[in-house]
Amino acid sequence: MDCMTRLNPLARLASVFTTPHAPEDFLRLVNPLSSARQLRGIVTRVDRETPDSATIHFRPGRGWHAHEAGQWARIGVDIDGVRQWRSYSLTTAGGEDPAITVTAIGAISEALVHRTEPGDVLFLSPPQGDFVLPEHPRPLLMLTAGSGLTPVMSMVRTLVRRRSDADVELVHSARTRETALFRDELEELAGLDHGLTVHHWITGERGRRFDLTSTDDLDATVPDWRERATYVCGPTEMIDDAEALWRAAEVESRLVIERFAPITLPGSGGDGGRVVFEKSDKEVDADGATTLLDAGEDAGVIMPSGCRMGICQSCLVPLQAGRVRDLRTGEVHGDEGQLIQTCVSTAAGDVYLDV
Ligand SMILES: Cc1cc2nc3c(=O)[nH]c(=O)nc-3n(C[C@H](O)[C@H](O)[C@H](O)COP(=O)(O)OP(=O)(O)OC[C@H]3O[C@@H](n4cnc5c(N)ncnc54)[C@H](O)[C@@H]3O)c2cc1C
Ligand code: FES
Repeated sequence: MDCMTRLNPLARLASVFTTPHAPEDFLRLVNPLSSARQLRGIVTRVDRETPDSATIHFRPGRGWHAHEAGQWARIGVDIDGVRQWRSYSLTTAGGEDPAITVTAIGAISEALVHRTEPGDVLFLSPPQGDFVLPEHPRPLLMLTAGSGLTPVMSMVRTLVRRRSDADVELVHSARTRETALFRDELEELAGLDHGLTVHHWITGERGRRFDLTSTDDLDATVPDWRERATYVCGPTEMIDDAEALWRAAEVESRLVIERFAPITLPGSGGDGGRVVFEKSDKEVDADGATTLLDAGEDAGVIMPSGCRMGICQSCLVPLQAGRVRDLRTGEVHGDEGQLIQTCVSTAAGDVYLDV
């Protein structure tokens, strides 16, 4: 990525000036992974998966810990001088060297997919998340769509290669065969007869999505679905339908979900208002649908952020004055000094933030 820090030129320069010592001895002094303040990783390989997605392998520095299958990490990249953070599931098997698989849908993912190269530096936070495999082996159903396959791919890679008693039914939806992530590897793993059955649901060929508003598609595809611990990751609508269906079948305790976007209450946006970023000396008019985080970034304020969906608390900013609305509940609140989760809050009138 042309706008990211690269190690390679530094390594080349080091080898010229450090002889007879090993360049590594000197590089340790300026190693981009060695910052005490910010965990970093070096991109070691980039594999193209589909025209719009890529797997980025990286070597993390000290402070990283091995991930459990299904966990995610915050990844920061410097783009045009501004550090942008997004969350990505780790797609390699639990405990293996990490990688993320990114699908390009917006500015940051686009840069990661199309402009990342070996030697680039990624900023990192350690793996987290509780969308992880059950402690004891049991029959599993994985329901995924699009890039929602990523945390489940880590689980499949972990289970199928390492546990002889794996019993996994995976139903993955994609628009076309060409855009179905990991299709060849999944079909190969399913062919090993190691307890994985893969059902690819290609919406472009079937003319409709895998329907979770009734039990018909599930009954036809995985008849014993009610008995299985079920992991769902995909678009909001799919997750909402699954929650309703499992609740109606009175088996919701067997459902584990992972969302890539926040749950917002329809119509919870409210009025909007003027948002003043005091320390940055910037202000902007934000409508009731724009989060304070987006409003700040659009105005050029360096906003702290992480998951951007209300789970990691990385985006907290103190409120100086005004009221904000929580997009998840519609609740309007605001006390001076209160820490505001800017990724899920909008302005409810004029707002003054200490950032
Ligand atoms: C826990 C977690 C794990 C994630 N894992 C992955 C992953 O493994 N691979 C991956 O590509 N992305 C993943 N995401 C989404 C990722 O963090 C970014 O939101 C995504 O790459 C878009 O960022 P952007 O800056 O390109 O676009 P933005 O402009 O920030 O996002 C555009 C909009 O798309 C929404 N969105 C986010 N993800 C999706 C999606 N999959 N489908 C449709 N809309 C979406 C966002 O909420 C936002 O409203 C994950 C998100 C979370 C919270
Ligand atoms: S960025 Fe994670 S809670 Fe707001």
